[in-house]
Amino acid sequence: MINDFSRNGSSSALSWHEPQSEAAVMAEVSDQLKRNISLAVPRSDDTTVKGKKIISFPFQDPLPFATRVLAKAFQTNANNIGTRLHNADGSEGGFEGSQELERRLLSMIAEILGAKSEEVDGFMTLGATASNLDGMQIGREKGRTPDKQCKNTTAIFGSFLTHYSIDRAAKTLNIAPNFDDTENDDGTGYYKLGTDGRGRVLVEQIEEKIERIAAEHPIVTHFIVVGNAGTTMLGSVDDIPQIDALITKLKARFPEKHFHFHVDAAFGAFVAPFLRDVPDIGFRNKNVGTVGVDIYKTLPGHVGSGALFVRRDLANVTRSSSEYVPIGGSISSVGSKPGAMAVACYAILRLLGKKGLQENAQRLMSIASFARDQLSELNLHLFPNDLPIIGVSGRFPVELLDYYIVHESTFPLNGRQPLREDSGFAHIWNVVAMPHIEKNILHLTADYRWVLHGRNSLWNID
Ligand SMILES: Cc1ncc(COP(=O)(O)O)c(C=O)c1O
Repeated sequence: MINDFSRNGSSSALSWHEPQSEAAVMAEVSDQLKRNISLAVPRSDDTTVKGKKIISFPFQDPLPFATRVLAKAFQTNANNIGTRLHNADGSEGGFEGSQELERRLLSMIAEILGAKSEEVDGFMTLGATASNLDGMQIGREKGRTPDKQCKNTTAIFGSFLTHYSIDRAAKTLNIAPNFDDTENDDGTGYYKLGTDGRGRVLVEQIEEKIERIAAEHPIVTHFIVVGNAGTTMLGSVDDIPQIDALITKLKARFPEKHFHFHVDAAFGAFVAPFLRDVPDIGFRNKNVGTVGVDIYKTLPGHVGSGALFVRRDLANVTRSSSEYVPIGGSISSVGSKPGAMAVACYAILRLLGKKGLQENAQRLMSIASFARDQLSELNLHLFPNDLPIIGVSGRFPVELLDYYIVHESTFPLNGRQPLREDSGFAHIWNVVAMPHIEKNILHLTADYRWVLHGRNSLWNID
């Protein structure tokens, strides 16, 4: 080891004044990387972090082919700054190859989202958090004339299951400056509405709230509705066509107001469009203005790849220009971004084709139904799932926390659905149905029985 930097040590212990040899640096890096979990390698049964069984990760090991493409593309380390679907000449010069592949990738995803390439613009982001931020900014800015006082005149509507990145965006954009109480007295802010028992936002609540705010608070001129496709904890998909119809109605009723409909398809973009029972989440809904996606969650790609799609007429709302991003400027809050990631994502979609995407979606759904079958034998309350995420009501057993990596969430009730418990809080943990969980679910159900009935664990399922 090059220093006594402990495995969990803080960087303050690191002595790094002297240059190190490549071998020494590689040894240190390799040592640390051994601590990372590879989802593809079967879990061992020890109880170190590495041996914990994964239940709730919304991503999977990248295809080795995609990693090879990524490594190859990184050799030229292209910068795709400013690259978007419709600015063939507008990116940093010198990296035309990776920029062209980003445009091809975006046009394939646009098609999955129900748009013809010419109807939408789009750009890659580092993930759906960034896509959601840009979607909220477009909703806040559209139709706005420059206002030197920068007053907040925007209200956002989502459900209490909406991802926290919308909270962050609302705070960053000064729409809801307070994380704890997001509704402002003047009608602006972020309204987290209730859902039905499946976790789909109650569309009548969106209507009531917007009608009331529009009537009582003339200061609110911009209304952004966030549709979930699907929610992080339950995989529930809001009724996007019904919300779309509502927005048509509201636009007619309040023609002086601006309405923006953003769909957060971080999890659902590559699954929902291939499932017969899930209504359309994309641009066939004519009021949908922006759709944020993650490319790595349900596809075997690399963390750090997402995109935002924008209707053409909104694409320039957030445009900024600079001398070195020549034509058209950038419409994204991400500046420099790795062209290599675009290339690797493109390679995955080309390798799979639309047929492979369809098969992937069906495979994940069948893993979800396998997990449901196993879990339902434990008499747990399982939420119905639109996408391959199964929400389980209650707390994950403390006895098993050392053995599993599980995401849990607590929701304050405040009269909201979908779950009521005496404590005033709803507890939910979830199973994200990915290829690596099939065996882990068998372990989990065996262990759960042991917790319930004191029976022996069946750790030897292999
Ligand atoms: C619904 C939803 N939106 C947004 C995000 C944020 O995605 P990322 O972590 O890629 O920024 C997530 C992440 O889990 C999510 O589930």
